[in-house]
Amino acid sequence: MPQDLSGDAALGRDVFRFETFGNEGFWTDAVRLPAGIAAARVTPMQALELGLQVDVDAVPSDVRQRLARELKDDPTGRSSSVLNDASLTPKLVMANAVMGMSAKGDKVGTSCALCHSMSDASVFKSPKGGSIGHRIDGLANHDLNLGMIFATAANTRALYTVSQLTLVANKGKTLGGAPTGLTPSSTEAEFDAYFSNPKYYPVGMFDDSFDGNGDPMHNTPLFRQDLAAPYGSEGTFTKIDDFSNLVFTSLFDQTMLTTPGGRAFVHKLAGPAGDEMIDGYVKVLAATGVTGYPYVKTTSTGKPGELATPVGVRVDNRKLLAMNAYLAGLQAPRGAVVDRPSAMRGKMVFQASGCAGCHNTDQGRPVPTTLHPMKQIWPGDAPMVLAQREPPLNPVLNSPGVFDDKWAVVNASVRGEKRGVAMPLLLDLARKPVFLHDNSVPSLDALFDPRRGPTAPHPFYVAKSAQRADVVNYLKGLDAGSR
Ligand code: HEC
Ligand code: HEC
Repeated sequence: MPQDLSGDAALGRDVFRFETFGNEGFWTDAVRLPAGIAAARVTPMQALELGLQVDVDAVPSDVRQRLARELKDDPTGRSSSVLNDASLTPKLVMANAVMGMSAKGDKVGTSCALCHSMSDASVFKSPKGGSIGHRIDGLANHDLNLGMIFATAANTRALYTVSQLTLVANKGKTLGGAPTGLTPSSTEAEFDAYFSNPKYYPVGMFDDSFDGNGDPMHNTPLFRQDLAAPYGSEGTFTKIDDFSNLVFTSLFDQTMLTTPGGRAFVHKLAGPAGDEMIDGYVKVLAATGVTGYPYVKTTSTGKPGELATPVGVRVDNRKLLAMNAYLAGLQAPRGAVVDRPSAMRGKMVFQASGCAGCHNTDQGRPVPTTLHPMKQIWPGDAPMVLAQREPPLNPVLNSPGVFDDKWAVVNASVRGEKRGVAMPLLLDLARKPVFLHDNSVPSLDALFDPRRGPTAPHPFYVAKSAQRADVVNYLKGLDAGSR
């Protein structure tokens, strides 16, 4: 998609696509992702099968021409010398052709584009979702197999804080999909087994909280972020630049959590269990020969725990603000072409069934900023108190089942709000393969089918199947121009 951007918008685009603020140290020297990819001899075809997106405009021209000829002869790519040549994968990465893997010198870091960009698949599309084409920034990558990508890294143990752990302070209780948690003495093979198991780490999901809980969340759109506040399913952040800063200063370099500011933040959120997690992490880093951390370059400091500086630091604010503008300006895709009369009927059902009491009908307006209490979105919610915390933080709560796992430690009580669920954009729904943040519902029709029962998450139903079909058409056809 040609985009004529100038000044800060162009800067924002570059930040989104390529900025690492130094996290290549974490991904290359601590997690050792490039070494793992090389050792596993991952071919470009296998990279596409992991859901990775390739920017054809960054592919070296001789390779691009050879690939075009090969795909003309065999559009499946199965016989392609390019797609089956493992030695080309690192070359594509170093050419910045693999979206979100950002080459810096001889190292590779991570940028926002890893999960929040797609290609237009104009050159090639793998049946598993990866594709080659021109970049479309802001679309959620629903097919990205991050668990498997992390398991491929040579030192997956460096992802300790975003793994499902067993901690003494939690009396051995572990939270997440796996029956038992990992510990500092778990082996690389045991970490790999956790991350590569699609039951614990499903495709399209990312565990974005360093809380020692196994709580992957389904990916979300990142276009029109002017409409999306508050941010994250739990709505902790009201400003995207604060959200982005947290990603850059902790998630993309988890060794930042071992700094005094990182420790203070984790302690505030998780008390003794948090302290134990960081002590364990330091042991893991030492045992796996990780030195010279943290890696991220920050430019200003603040109080740990504040939303602007959760771990006490902030990366270049001008770049963060430029990215805000870029993310607000990214357009939502056009709604799918659907049966119009059916969609019109669906809109009436949507309004008559109480959906519009929470969701907008005009998708060009910001989503309501209300957080809905967990109990309202999930009547089955019956949490137990796992630990007390200093107000305004709520106690650490957990219900049986995974729906509320992310909210146990991380929720909007950080800013004095409730443990509730934020409103999603109702955009680009036709491309979505699974629904709700925990991937629990396989289709839109199933989401509104009363057979899910009165205590299921999001129990808002349309009883008649014909009316449900109309609502599904209505939703698939929505775009930011729908009134
Ligand atoms: C490894 C995958 C991954 C990467 C890389 C990533 N994100 Fe995300 N992002 C997610 C997932 C998964 C969610 C959904 C989280 C949730 O529902 O709470 C998300 C949600 C968001 C949201 C909330 C959107 C909303 O409507 O509430 C924002 C904002 C965001 N990401 C910004 C960024 C920025 C900025 C970067 C780069 C600094 C980034 N993300 C990098 C996976 C990723
Ligand atoms: C009480 C407020 C409320 C009502 C009523 C409500 N929703 Fe929702 N809806 C939400 C929230 C909050 C979410 C996010 C749930 C999650 O993923 O955790 C959501 C999620 C969704 C999603 C899934 C988006 C995705 O990306 O997975 C769709 C589609 C949707 N709602 C449509 C509807 C329809 C149709 C109705 C009426 C039958 C309805 N909603 C009623 C609050 C509500």
